[in-house]
Amino acid sequence: MSVSLADTKRNPAIVILDFGSQYSELIARRVRETEVYSLVMSYNTSIEEIQEINPQGIILSGGPKSVYEEGAPVCDPNIWNLNIPVLGVCYGMQLMVHQLGGKVQVASGMAEYGKAELYVDDPTALLTNVFDGSTMWMSHGDSVKDLPPDFVSLAHTSNTAIAAIGSHKHQRYGVQFHPEVVHSIHGMSLLRNFVYNICNCEPDWTTNTFIDEAIAQVRNQVGEKKVLLALSGGVDSSTLAFLLNKAIGDQLTCMFIDQGFMRKGEPEFLMEFFDQKFDIHVEYINARERFISKLKGVIDPEEKRKIIGTEFIRVFEEESVRLGPFDYLAQGTLYPDVIESSGTNIDPKTGERIAVKIKSHHNVGGLPKDLQFKLVEPLRRLFKDEVRKVGKSLGLPDEIVRRHPFPGPGLAIRILGEVSAEKLNCLRDADLIVREEIAKAGLYHDIWQAFAVLLPVRSVGVMGDQRTYAWPIVVRCVSSEDGMTADWSRVPYETLEIISNRIVNEVEGVNRVVLDITSKPPGTIEWE
Ligand code: XMP
Repeated sequence: MSVSLADTKRNPAIVILDFGSQYSELIARRVRETEVYSLVMSYNTSIEEIQEINPQGIILSGGPKSVYEEGAPVCDPNIWNLNIPVLGVCYGMQLMVHQLGGKVQVASGMAEYGKAELYVDDPTALLTNVFDGSTMWMSHGDSVKDLPPDFVSLAHTSNTAIAAIGSHKHQRYGVQFHPEVVHSIHGMSLLRNFVYNICNCEPDWTTNTFIDEAIAQVRNQVGEKKVLLALSGGVDSSTLAFLLNKAIGDQLTCMFIDQGFMRKGEPEFLMEFFDQKFDIHVEYINARERFISKLKGVIDPEEKRKIIGTEFIRVFEEESVRLGPFDYLAQGTLYPDVIESSGTNIDPKTGERIAVKIKSHHNVGGLPKDLQFKLVEPLRRLFKDEVRKVGKSLGLPDEIVRRHPFPGPGLAIRILGEVSAEKLNCLRDADLIVREEIAKAGLYHDIWQAFAVLLPVRSVGVMGDQRTYAWPIVVRCVSSEDGMTADWSRVPYETLEIISNRIVNEVEGVNRVVLDITSKPPGTIEWE
């Protein structure tokens, strides 16, 4: 799979060439926030491909290497003959300087990290409305020493004499700081200046234009054929269901496989919501018995995940035959998955291209490739926050649009050791209390995930005059940007107290509540 432009039916106005920065995706998101469509492409994209796309502007991302280092990634120098405005960010600016005949000073212990005040020397073009003294986020060792011909310095900081550069004549600009990160106070103004004033882009990347384009594209792709969608209840598959329903109505069949590992009330909510409230027919497949019996005696987490994944595929195959035949399978693939599998990723530490990452996670997107379906993936151009906007605009409620992430294998990987019906009931009740109290305290949207985990050990307690010997529940609340790293949330003691009291009093089989205060790394968010 690669970032195929044929299937987007729309060329990006701004192309971001990725030199291995952790922020390349973020630059794309920020540009899209200005309602201008952008895509991340590999730093070594050929000049022919760039010409074919004919973007209105190019952004060269940052990167971990030094321009003079062996193996440092370089773009095709012919981009300087294209007459397209370019903005270089950090490494991207240094590369611009290097390729256009200037000089870069290699780090000599004068690295600059974190916030810096930017003093603007030329408040025009790129730096219009970027106020003198505004905070920008720095993260660099090397810096610009000699400017290439036609360039002038536009700004400085107390540590960096040349923090922004520009050749107004050629519409080439470079910044040493990262305008895309939230700490860069006027970063968005700068990006807006680039896309609107310098590249003359039009604001045409909006939720509504996306929906219209996606509907037309799906209709064009599938014609009169039938499409199957495995619904999980998450925001991606739900948004997809709404979009496809709008595009092709009855040609869509949604299937919801209930493995028995959802949270309390979720299967009922899902069925009622789709089927009754929105008249989107969903085939409910009750596979609870099948899954739990397969997990009998299984305690190893990876084995559990594999069994659940395999069983899911089996049920899916059987049911698709029963309900089918179908020509197409709809999948909620998102843009970050496309970037990841397109192989444009570069290891931020070594600068090497990194192998395609394969998710061991089981979810509804993880169906085997040998299934005899063609794929419909209308969300593959979108970032997660854009999916949420599309979902909301199509009428999905906040319960789904702003729902915390939930793993495909569900509660089965939040019960350590063997899964049983009794433990599932117990965990479901405890989990509901955690979510209810976090929501009541107004913390739900500040927290990435808040949930309960059941440990398969027993400890002694006392309730009334009775000695108890029961399971503990772990409360796990984390804050995170993307699930890759996380910190434990500092939930107020008062809220924790209510959660603890309610769980011990209301959930049969539990006599103790403990709090997980492990960050990721070294811990993971889930316990299995
Ligand atoms: P970990 O536990 O690896 O989780 O720190 C990171 C994020 O991924 C979610 N997660 C999953 N999501 N299928 C999914 O769709 C899975 O099998 C799965 N396992 C973990 C987890 O909830 C967290 O948000």
